[in-house]
Amino acid sequence: MKIYHVSAECYPIAKVGGLADVVGSLPKYQKSSTIVSQVVMPFYNNDFRRNNKFSVLHESKITIGDSDFECRILTLKNNNLGFDLFLVDVPKLLFKDFVYSNNDTIRFLAFQIGFLDWMLTQNEKPSIIHCHDHHTGLIPFMMTQSYKYQSLKNIPTVLTIHNAQYQGWFSHDIINVIPEFNFAKVGLLDWGGVINPLAAAIKCAWRVTTVSPSYMEELKIKANGLENLLNHESKKCVGILNGIDTEVWNPENDSYIVKNYKSSTIQSGKKTNKKWLCKHFNLDEKKPMVAFIGRLVGEKGSDLFPVSFRNILKEKSCTILLLGSGHKEIEDELKALKPNFIREYNVFIGYDEKLSHIIYAGADFLLMPSRVEPCGLNQMYSLRYGTVPIVRNVGGLKDTITDIDQIGGFGICHERTTVQQIVDAVGRSIKLFNDDPKFKKIRKKIMSIDHSWSASANEYIKLYKSLK
Ligand code: ADP
Ligand code: GLC
Repeated sequence: MKIYHVSAECYPIAKVGGLADVVGSLPKYQKSSTIVSQVVMPFYNNDFRRNNKFSVLHESKITIGDSDFECRILTLKNNNLGFDLFLVDVPKLLFKDFVYSNNDTIRFLAFQIGFLDWMLTQNEKPSIIHCHDHHTGLIPFMMTQSYKYQSLKNIPTVLTIHNAQYQGWFSHDIINVIPEFNFAKVGLLDWGGVINPLAAAIKCAWRVTTVSPSYMEELKIKANGLENLLNHESKKCVGILNGIDTEVWNPENDSYIVKNYKSSTIQSGKKTNKKWLCKHFNLDEKKPMVAFIGRLVGEKGSDLFPVSFRNILKEKSCTILLLGSGHKEIEDELKALKPNFIREYNVFIGYDEKLSHIIYAGADFLLMPSRVEPCGLNQMYSLRYGTVPIVRNVGGLKDTITDIDQIGGFGICHERTTVQQIVDAVGRSIKLFNDDPKFKKIRKKIMSIDHSWSASANEYIKLYKSLK
């Protein structure tokens, strides 16, 4: 069985968030003697391009509307990623030093057309084409409706929705950019009067998955306008919980962190990492450290951080460290708070993979008061590093974290994304920190919770097999 995962992100090639982590790990864990699982993504002008060598597999011209563009399919020389990688190089459109911008319709269409044109030239057709998010959402439509791809129409397609907030909308005015199809089928592209690539994929893919079971249920009630569609298509939809790459995220041999540790050495291991963070960010190492890592957007509840942090630090004894970037106003407000809370609060605005690992290792608690969280990987990384997650009961957070007041519980959960509930949840975490025997026991316990891909990778394989 030959599977192509098609995605805009894949770790370590290009990462903005969790999509990259999933596409960079799931294929490794799907690989077996009978399964070849490979990744196709755009060729960006980034560090991965600068630090690696590539060979050209295929060269052609792709047509988008009235324009032709040079297109090459590249593969990586000396590949040790654990899966085969193919890169769609459309120099004029995709070869940029960023992954996303405000104007991506034609860029990602070029990616999808470049991939499908290449598939037409393959003697051995894939067994499954697995599309991730709206950037690849037109593939199932084009494979079944565009005249030029008719030879691909019997290949099963799977769409995974990592985040239904973003749908890739564009106007019917530029519909001619989509390779010609029977216009009677235009309704498959449309949702609410505009072309909606995510909706088109939900309609046209053979199966639709979301990245946690709870998120699937939540989407049927609230999906940024797609709830009716998801209810209508519910028979082909299923929620499969993401796993984590336990080779990349392993405190025992993580080369990014200051001191490696395992469950038997957790106290000294975490202490050394915390010490480094406190020194680096001028924080009081005796106090419990609550950290946040992520995108500063409404979905993560980050607009409530400035007020919540102010209230927490006025009332309670802890430190707060934040690593993230996103809305400029939130970034500015968070930075402006610094002088008020010396040795208690710091922020690093930006993206830093190494620092994120040290924070998972050194912090005592990880805060995730998300309004929407399709799966969330941070809480699973935090468990693996013995850092107690503080989460809102939503989506994948609900499926992975049990509150300490429940039988067998190990995290701090709250029901709503409000300032008061964030402040109270942090209050509960400080109480836990001060109950030393209980805190130590929970830290050890969470390190052994298994969120590896083994179970979920198999669920995907079963799903693929059901389509043959
Ligand atoms: P999302 O994909 O919605 O942003 P996830 O929890 O699925 O959320 O995954 C986020 C991933 O991105 C994690 O690997 C997290 O460590 C990483 N990440 C987010 N923001 C940053 C940042 N500023 N610096 C480094 N890593 C980050
Ligand atoms: C999205 C979601 C996040 C999920 C990730 C990987 O970015 O926001 O919750 O963990 O995709 O599936």
